[in-house]
Amino acid sequence: MLGHQKTKGFPNRVGLDIGNHTVNGVEVVEHGSELTIRSAGAAAIPGLKSRQDTPDQSATLHAIRNLWSSARFTSKKVVLALPPQAVYIKWLHLEAQDETELENTARATAARGAPFSADDAVVDFRILSARGLKTRNVYFTMLVAASGSYIDDMLNIVESAGLDPVAVDIGVAAALRSQQSQHNTASHLWSGQPKAHCIMGAKTTTIAVMRGNALEFARTVPVGGNDFTEAIIEHANVTWAEAEKIKTSPDARLTSGSVLVATTSSGELRIPCDNVVGRLAREIQRSLKFFSSQFAEGSYLGMIGAVTASGGAALMKGIDTCLQEQGIELARIVNPFTGFSVAAEAGGMQHISGSAAAYTTSMGLAATNYWEESEMSAAA
Ligand SMILES: Nc1ncnc2c1ncn2[C@@H]1O[C@H](COP(=O)(O)OP(=O)(O)OP(=O)(O)O)[C@@H](O)[C@H]1O
Ligand SMILES: [Mg+2]
Repeated sequence: MLGHQKTKGFPNRVGLDIGNHTVNGVEVVEHGSELTIRSAGAAAIPGLKSRQDTPDQSATLHAIRNLWSSARFTSKKVVLALPPQAVYIKWLHLEAQDETELENTARATAARGAPFSADDAVVDFRILSARGLKTRNVYFTMLVAASGSYIDDMLNIVESAGLDPVAVDIGVAAALRSQQSQHNTASHLWSGQPKAHCIMGAKTTTIAVMRGNALEFARTVPVGGNDFTEAIIEHANVTWAEAEKIKTSPDARLTSGSVLVATTSSGELRIPCDNVVGRLAREIQRSLKFFSSQFAEGSYLGMIGAVTASGGAALMKGIDTCLQEQGIELARIVNPFTGFSVAAEAGGMQHISGSAAAYTTSMGLAATNYWEESEMSAAA
């Protein structure tokens, strides 16, 4: 059940982000209020061959096992993320006499429109604000429906790997939370200003808006790192695996006009990716425009401050300047490890220092104490 449960908590735990392309995790150790990173790492899911491939359970299981040995995680307690395809979130103003009536309405409404059946849905809601009218109250509510069968499958894979799932959260919420400490320390003219964050994965990108600690908007669009791989295949006539290798080689980068430049054994490749970056920029712009349009024109409530990005596809060098060329005011690619100390026995984090942005979700999962805060999560 999505819900909140108080237990003593798990001081050693791994935030585990199971994607369509990569499995990554961050292990933390909590001593009182002090949180230390013990280790972090990623493992590619084997056997993927095309843009639309969805990994089978055995391939994902294999990647999880690889991750535990390569990152030398010691804890078996894991906090998991629901990916965009398994969770349906919407925001509604609901009228109700009181919170009991609101709860009934919210639960009946949450799964309506979800891409999975209402019978399969596990639902929950959160009140973001409330105002009273003469006889009724109006609650601005975030409604969440998650696919129960997806959760079951995910728990099965994780348990087959010998791990013990202790909580499940909405992936995008965890990713945004991992930046909160950074937001809180940054100075803002007005703390109520909404901030946008784009999580760029392999198949999809999620564009989310957060105000204070609350998620106020999220939309997932079918553009991501796989589209760059596909562009390389089309241009260079190579296999999926070769194209991935070219894309992630240390010298590959997007240059002005979204041309991907990479060196291979047969010389320099110049691959036009303006189509992919253009689609990504348009989708970000469209989503942010939609968010702002919900507020009165010129209202500060709808004026988005900084746009930031994370996820594996945000590691593509030069993607920030290419998005900026397309009119996206991207402030930075996020490093979720900023401000945390690393345990001495972990052997350092140098091996992943160039890929920190891929860990926003797993870091957010690991860093949250689901057992003390009243979060929208499933404490198992
Ligand atoms: N150094 C790099 N340069 C460019 N792209 C990279 C780099 N490292 C990873 N990627 C790309 O990032 C994508 C994987 O990102 P991520 O791990 O966030 O995806 P995922 O969570 O598995 O996928 P999804 O979110 O679609 O389920 C892949 O397309 C991968 O090729
Ligand atoms: Mg992902």
